[in-house]
Amino acid sequence: MGGQKNSFLRESFLNELGPVVSVPELEELRVRYLGKKGLLTAELKNLGGLPPDQRRTAGAALNETKEFIEHALGQRKQELKDLELSRKLASEGIDVTLPGSYVPPGRVHPVTQTLEEITDVFVSMGFSVEEGPEVELDYYNFEALNIPKEHPAREMQDTFYVSKDVVLRTHTSPVQVRVMQRKSPPLKFIAPGKVYRCDADISHTPMFHQIEGLMVGEDITFSNLKSVLETFLHRIFSPDVPVRFRPSYFPFTEPSAEVDIGCIFCKGTGCRTCKGSGWIEILGAGMVNPHVFEMVGYDPKQYSGFAFGMGIERITMLKFSIDDIRLFFENDIRFLGQF
Ligand code: DAH
Repeated sequence: MGGQKNSFLRESFLNELGPVVSVPELEELRVRYLGKKGLLTAELKNLGGLPPDQRRTAGAALNETKEFIEHALGQRKQELKDLELSRKLASEGIDVTLPGSYVPPGRVHPVTQTLEEITDVFVSMGFSVEEGPEVELDYYNFEALNIPKEHPAREMQDTFYVSKDVVLRTHTSPVQVRVMQRKSPPLKFIAPGKVYRCDADISHTPMFHQIEGLMVGEDITFSNLKSVLETFLHRIFSPDVPVRFRPSYFPFTEPSAEVDIGCIFCKGTGCRTCKGSGWIEILGAGMVNPHVFEMVGYDPKQYSGFAFGMGIERITMLKFSIDDIRLFFENDIRFLGQF
């Protein structure tokens, strides 16, 4: 009877083992035969009911079957593990012949391009480059530039106040004062950087960039100012663009001028960009006000100088025919990728 039982157990086990394709399925099978309530375990429990002479041979046979099943389970388990590993290796393998993924190259922002171009022109004329803080004392942004408290010029520049005496600089002109305090003439530098005004529309953003320029020495004249700025504008726009100086007012220069170029779009005949005037305003400039020299301890009888300031976004917009300043700060690569 024992012999039949054993061969039946082995056969049914092997039949069930055949289609097993996963480790969890294999475990289920193990439990079904060798678990506490397993088929083979039940037979082992039955041994107690047999007469002692049969018990011995039946027990030995059942143990053999048990070893047979354990061995078969172990073997299949290893096979399944090997299979899984080779599947994993195949699916996670790296095909070194596949083309790499494309990382698009970055571009220099158009405002930075213009800034670098302007800087190059002035450096080639012997100007050095200076910097100053963006969070600035009211004193440097206004007072020392001859813009006292209550001066109407303060209202021209919608100032972000950090505290009563501290502002986000509204222009790069305070760098003039800081450098003059630190160094003695002769001086010849530009100062590019970010400036802030509480203003936002198609041609204004709360943060934008300016370049300031200052030249101070013993015999600096308005002619020097004209020739430096004409040279600059001819190099940045085109060698034949007309340049004109229009009388204007800035508290820190006297006399002051606004500098226009002939409209590069209509060549002076009048269009939407130049509002029909044929001219486009590019920068502010003038001879340094003697009062500013006095405040930094320079003798205005000994020294004279000129200063100028311009917005970099504005020049970039003209150079690339961009009609909305906000495009510079949206970081849309479809826009930025064009320059
Ligand atoms: N700071 C002036 C502004 O932001 C621009 C300017 C005008 C700067 C005349 C100058 C200057 O140095 O001489 O509008």
